[in-house]
Amino acid sequence: MLDWSETSSNKAIHHLPQILKQAETAGQAGNESAKQTGLGEIDRAGGRVSVDDKRMINCRADVNQLLPLKYKWAWEKYLAGCNNHWMPTEVSMQADIALWKSRDGLTDDERHAIKRNLGFFAASESLVANNIVLAIYRHLTNPECRQYLLRQAFEEAVHTHTFQYIVESLGLDEGELFNMYREVPSITDKAAWALKHTQNLDNPQFRTGTPEADQAFLRDLVAFYVIFEGMWFYTGFAQILSLGRRNKMVGIAEQYQYILRDESIHLNFGIDVINQIKIENPHLWTPKFQEEVRQMIREAAELEAAYGRDTMPRGFLGLNAALCEQYMHFIANRRCAQLGLPRVFDEAENPFPWMSEAMDLKKEKNFFETRVIEYQNGGALSWE
Ligand SMILES: [Fe+2]
Ligand SMILES: [Fe+2]
Repeated sequence: MLDWSETSSNKAIHHLPQILKQAETAGQAGNESAKQTGLGEIDRAGGRVSVDDKRMINCRADVNQLLPLKYKWAWEKYLAGCNNHWMPTEVSMQADIALWKSRDGLTDDERHAIKRNLGFFAASESLVANNIVLAIYRHLTNPECRQYLLRQAFEEAVHTHTFQYIVESLGLDEGELFNMYREVPSITDKAAWALKHTQNLDNPQFRTGTPEADQAFLRDLVAFYVIFEGMWFYTGFAQILSLGRRNKMVGIAEQYQYILRDESIHLNFGIDVINQIKIENPHLWTPKFQEEVRQMIREAAELEAAYGRDTMPRGFLGLNAALCEQYMHFIANRRCAQLGLPRVFDEAENPFPWMSEAMDLKKEKNFFETRVIEYQNGGALSWE
């Protein structure tokens, strides 16, 4: 039976202007959103995109037109990533298999640290990939940056493949490794901390365009590019590469060196994206927000220190939790400088100077003069 009571019809008439207004706002939001994804209706009457129309976020220019390029740094990172192409299966695991299966080739502490390290990375690569594809891509409204994101997403798939290949080669317990991010509290704490910053963006209703939403987007970029990939991964690399320097697990160490080469570009891309958003939207980079970012970096270093103690309760030759914490402080200060922020810890000396040499931390500064050329040589890395 039809309901003729006041509550339905009259109410609707009374509220009609409001409803229409809401529909109009929703329609506008939908149009804006379609412009930003690039999947809306084609604007047949629209003009051609000029460089000046392009913006990192909240851009109204057609995101389906790569050219003309505005952000050459993004395109150059895309080319550098392509020049770095590698697959984990190209690396021989014979020496690692022999060592892993030998009774006394590795100490219990070394085995414990290796497993925790692999467990941290195994799921983290997927978390990073999911964040790129499902959270960042949609809101970064620039085609050359998206071109890089597509390349990065593939590289994260290659990295996840690496952990599948390691598990298979060494005959490790896949359930144990891939569940560590849920089952080992010091790893869960890190993953949960990062996810906290991406959950806003995961909401299908989330849109950039207000200072609050744009800052939420910046927080996600800081959490994943600067902290996850730019801080936590670096201590993870240091652990395995330290073993590699002692001729232990050299296959994994070589793979980590390739991953690090990729990750250093991911990190630099993230830093450039954040700094460019700051330039275009100075109102977002308030003193309060800057302090919040510094606090995020401080917290992340503390989580890493707890993970280090859990992973290396006693430590082993050349590596222990205290050294990893010191390294984290060194890296944290460096990331602050890259974002134009004051350091968060007392000046710390790099306890792993060989990381600077092997991983070219110094060269991050003049990345394009030095690294790209090396990448083009591609192929093998020597282990001297
Ligand atoms: Fe990765
Ligand atoms: Fe990455």
